Order: sequence, then C-alpha cells, then structure tokens
Amino acid sequence: MATFGGRWTREKLEILERYLKAYARVMKNQPFHTIYIDAFAGTGTWQPNSGYLPEDYQDYKELLKGSAALALDIRDRAFDRLVFVEQDKDRSAELRALAAEHPKRHVDVIAEDANQVLPRLCQRMTPLDRAVVFLDPYATQVAWATVEAIAKTQKIDCWILFPLMAITRMMPRASAPDPSLEPRLNRVFGGSEHWKEIYHEKRQLSYFDKGPEFERDPGSKLIAASYRLRLESVFLRVAPTRRTFENSMNSSIFELFFAASNPVGSDTAIEIADHILRNW
Ligand SMILES: C[S@@+](CC[C@H](N)C(=O)[O-])C[C@H]1O[C@@H](n2cnc3c(N)ncnc32)[C@H](O)[C@@H]1O
Repeated sequence: MATFGGRWTREKLEILERYLKAYARVMKNQPFHTIYIDAFAGTGTWQPNSGYLPEDYQDYKELLKGSAALALDIRDRAFDRLVFVEQDKDRSAELRALAAEHPKRHVDVIAEDANQVLPRLCQRMTPLDRAVVFLDPYATQVAWATVEAIAKTQKIDCWILFPLMAITRMMPRASAPDPSLEPRLNRVFGGSEHWKEIYHEKRQLSYFDKGPEFERDPGSKLIAASYRLRLESVFLRVAPTRRTFENSMNSSIFELFFAASNPVGSDTAIEIADHILRNW
C-alpha cells in the first residue's frame, strides 16, 4: 500500500478513470488490441496521509484504489493487456498480488526503471496496438526521451503529471539554477534551451563585474507553458485545458497534461480529455 497525497490525488485518479471509461466505450467495436501502460504504477492502492483538509479527514483510514486497480476495473471493453511498471521491489510485489486476483487478465508487472522499459515497449507495438500511458511520478523521474518515444509511436494517448513544484524549486527566481541541477533539468526538458529560455538577463547591474546574471518572472506559469510547448513539438495534439493541482497551502505542485499521438484518433481523444478537464 502506498501512502501519499490527499484531495488532488483523488482528483487525478478520477480524471484518469473517467478517461479510461470513455476510451473503453470508443474502442468497443474497434479491431484494436488495447493496452494500458502504468509507468509509475505504485501498489494498486493508496491511503491519503498528508495535506488533507478538514472535509478530507473522513478519508484518513480509507484504502482507495490506485491507478493500476482502476485500470483493471474498466469493464465495458476491458484492456486486452495491462503493463504495470514499478521500480520498487516491494511495490511491484504488491502489484503481482493484485494481478493474481485477476487470473484471466493479461497483466505484466515489470520491476524496472520506466525510462528503460517504455522506449522498449513503444518500439514493440504492432500496427493494431493502441495504448493509454499514465506517467505519474513523485517528482522529476520522467525523462524527455521517454515522452518522445511515446509520441513517436503515433498509437498512444498519454496523461503526464508534470512536477511543477519540484522543477520550480530547481529554478530560482533571482539567479540561474545551480550547475549541479542542470543535468536533471536537461533530462526533464530534453535540452537546456527549453528551461534557459525562461530566464532573462538581469536588468539591474551588479556592483561587481561578474558577467551576465539571470533571473526569471515569478511563479510557475512560464515553466508549465514551456513544458506544454515541448509536448506540442512531439505530439499531434495536447489538450488545451489546464489542470493544476495545488497543495493545502495553495501552491502549485503538479500540472496534468494530456497528449495524443494517433493521426486518426487524436481529435476524439483530445475532445474527451478536454471535456473531462474543463468540467472538473
Ligand atoms: C505517485 S506514485 C504512483 C501512484 C500510482 N500511479 C497510483 O495512482 O496508485 C509513483 C511511483 O513511481 C515509482 N517510481 C519512481 N521512480 C520510478 C522509475 N524510474 N521507474 C518506475 N517506477 C518508479 C515509485 O516507487 C512510486 O511507487
């Protein structure tokens, strides 16, 4: 069992579940082999333990279904195959136990780094395969190369939870990021130019001649906008509606994106995902 999140975790999972149900309806009479890939799958259950508001207190002891269990529950047109990727050995063991409760389903549990597994899975997709991928990391674990591999398939709809707070903390407002953090930022954005463009040279000169100094505008909006542009550069379409999750201090912690890659299905996929996000 994983213990994390509060109200926003519940919202994130409800959005995913609504999408999976709609996807199942759309795929019902289609000839495709449908796959659900949970790249950061957790354990299949979660218990709210932090950041809860008074009205959430009821949830405290409640054990809720995580993304993997919710995907297994999709019935209208059940996924033909489910792939749960979870690096942690204990958590992947819990996922195997969950899979064992569904002996008739085709479930693969892979206890490896999602950034190694996903490009491999993407490459092996056949022409009739169609997939939904859920990228739900704790922080900055999703490498841009993984996102690019997903987009390239032209067969995958993808929900991506972008770690806005973690990235914002790595990018100070009044100075450029610490050089030790640059490799991690480059890995998330797929190159330094995409986060460096958020900075501009300081207008006010320093008293000391230290060469150009950098700063950026306050807040995290430009950071989220820059990542959206990155997604738009590789996916066919990205859902226009923003969904930013905030913690109990009203600080933005994650931005949820939806992106579609299939030339035939992307308009429908975007329409459904955007409808869910807009009416939240
Ligand atoms: C936010 S939790 C996932 C929650 C899950 N999606 C749910 O709704 O129940 C993130 C999970 O990713 C796992 N993880 C972290 N880095 C990983 C990596 N590089 N590859 C695969 N799993 C990873 C963590 O062990 C953790 O269980």
